[in-house]
Amino acid sequence: MASVKHVAIIMDGNGRYAQKLGKERTFGHYEGVKNVRDIAIHASEKGVECLTVYAFSTENWKRPAKEVSYLMSLPRIFFSSYLKQLMEKNIRVTMIGRMDNIPEEARTYFERAIAETAGNTGMILNFAMNYGSRDEIVEAARRYAEDFRDGKAGELDEALFSKYLMTAELPDVDLLIRTSGEQRISNFLLYQIAYAELVFSPLNWPEFDDAEFDRCLDEFYKRNRRFGGLNEE
Ligand code: FPP
Repeated sequence: MASVKHVAIIMDGNGRYAQKLGKERTFGHYEGVKNVRDIAIHASEKGVECLTVYAFSTENWKRPAKEVSYLMSLPRIFFSSYLKQLMEKNIRVTMIGRMDNIPEEARTYFERAIAETAGNTGMILNFAMNYGSRDEIVEAARRYAEDFRDGKAGELDEALFSKYLMTAELPDVDLLIRTSGEQRISNFLLYQIAYAELVFSPLNWPEFDDAEFDRCLDEFYKRNRRFGGLNEE
């Protein structure tokens, strides 16, 4: 049976969670940050090799300035509170996305976390920050074209093209989860999810707990078992 190496999550519904409780949207994001820690630790205990979380998309810049500014403070909130626990769990932090135009403070927290956890050998916790998949694919094509022109790259095939993506070092996504009942991909890992199972959870991200994560894993294995059965016939 296929095992889940790489899980990717579109963490949606922070705003609606806060609204439901009569609070500001930022409260939902704050609760969402805590949940990244909880689900990352749970996923690593379940043997997941890589967990990619969609923390900020290139489209998120369109939100009101106050909310963008709060979202950009989340790396500080997350790493200043939880980096120690990630170290204890042997989790390695990586990121994909365009670092060049995010505020210096957010960038510094990411860079420090990446450097400090670089020697860890457990699960990779990969943040998609200022990430957009079309942008990634176009950039990969541009870089390949340059390398080909300069005689540094040979004929293009799927394996070679993957090496130009921001996820070059990561396995393909096996399971993509989106929370909050929405059923869209929203420009997330379009190339990498070619063969992924898609599982949609009705829970808002701050409510998405270990049991719901396990339910999504069960769904993945149920679907794979069925394909296994067919293959054996
Ligand atoms: C979508 O919910 C969520 C986001 C845009 C932000 C997600 C980010 C985190 C949960 C934390 C990231 C952590 C770090 C360390 C950077 P929404 O606001 O679109 O919810 P809504 O659809 O209910 O309005």
